[in-house]
Amino acid sequence: MPPTKVIVLYGGKSTEHEVSVHSAQTVCRMLASQPEKYQIYPIFISKQGYWFLQEECGPQTPKDLPVTPVIRPDALVQALDGSFSIGADVVFPVVHGTNCEDGTLQGFLETLNVPYVGCGVLTSAVGMDKELTKLLAREAGLPVIPYQKISKHIAYDKTALENWVKDRLPVFVKPVRLGSSVGITKVTHVEQLELALKQALQFDSEALVEQGIDHAREIFCAVYGDEEKLYTSACGELRTVAGEFFDYNAKYVVAGGCETQVPARIPPETEEAMRRDTHTLFRQLQGHGLARVDFLMDPKTGEYYMSEINTIPGMSETSLFPQLFEASGVNYALILDRLIEIARQEHAQKGQLSLSRQL
Ligand SMILES: Nc1ncnc2c1ncn2[C@@H]1O[C@H](COP(=O)(O)OP(=O)(O)O)[C@@H](O)[C@H]1O
Ligand SMILES: [Mg+2]
Repeated sequence: MPPTKVIVLYGGKSTEHEVSVHSAQTVCRMLASQPEKYQIYPIFISKQGYWFLQEECGPQTPKDLPVTPVIRPDALVQALDGSFSIGADVVFPVVHGTNCEDGTLQGFLETLNVPYVGCGVLTSAVGMDKELTKLLAREAGLPVIPYQKISKHIAYDKTALENWVKDRLPVFVKPVRLGSSVGITKVTHVEQLELALKQALQFDSEALVEQGIDHAREIFCAVYGDEEKLYTSACGELRTVAGEFFDYNAKYVVAGGCETQVPARIPPETEEAMRRDTHTLFRQLQGHGLARVDFLMDPKTGEYYMSEINTIPGMSETSLFPQLFEASGVNYALILDRLIEIARQEHAQKGQLSLSRQL
């Protein structure tokens, strides 16, 4: 059998552009280590949205060849000057955040009619929206933290919001659709609320004001699989060493800004409940492929809440997703194989659906 041709897409018009390059480097390296199985084409998407074929996956270089996606039966991407074209069996998007993980790129790949790894348009779009995820999670019986939603263009009762906040300090103010802790403020005094909202609303037209869990323990559970069978990982814990909460600095700037503990030191029944919730939420959102669900746990009471889902979680070898599965005895390379298989399977199933009204 000829090797499967995989286009790995990364970078993108996103605040998480650089994080994506790290993840993609690992994915490319792991797939390329099986040359009999995979032929890899690393394609970098610039912050302006242009596509470049790279010799080796990484940040942009002058050697990168500008390419453009095309709808052709024999090719998916061609050189801007038309000098070559590439067909792909599967696209592996390793991108994070807005314009990438939120269904927009997935919709584009649907239009290109190519199998792609990970969640579809609906799951990606809902998963990016912290409020819609919470509403569906609550509907499925998961514990969800109380919040208020503020819209940039809709007037709200400032006094009522301040009163709600006063009873719950600290609160966390965050854009509804973003990631990597960008635009998030921990508000400890009600006077900080207005500025925190202004900051969050710079990145999105809607913001959440969430009841805070002081010194929350942050627990993560990963999932992969298809409509028939899902596998959840052991849970892991992440502790912030630098700063007040798991902000952008702790995540990416300060070396050693956070510590991971895999598996997490939590009671077995809590771990079991979180794995069950991860499974339930992924199903509720009609997910297939992969995701990581994040929980916040009150250190005083041991109670926990579902916080958010990431449909393309960090995928470098130091990221939680591979670590959580390695701790569960599942090899990362095997998961990547399975994700590629699922992508092809989903595409084939969709291809069997009727496009005509005649029976
Ligand atoms: N309600 C909350 N209570 C306590 N900490 C929170 C709360 N909401 C967010 N945080 C802190 O902020 C971080 C980022 O928030 P999160 O909602 O996960 O956004 P992002 O999508 O940017 O990761 C969390 O990892 C946690 O440290
Ligand atoms: Mg988060």
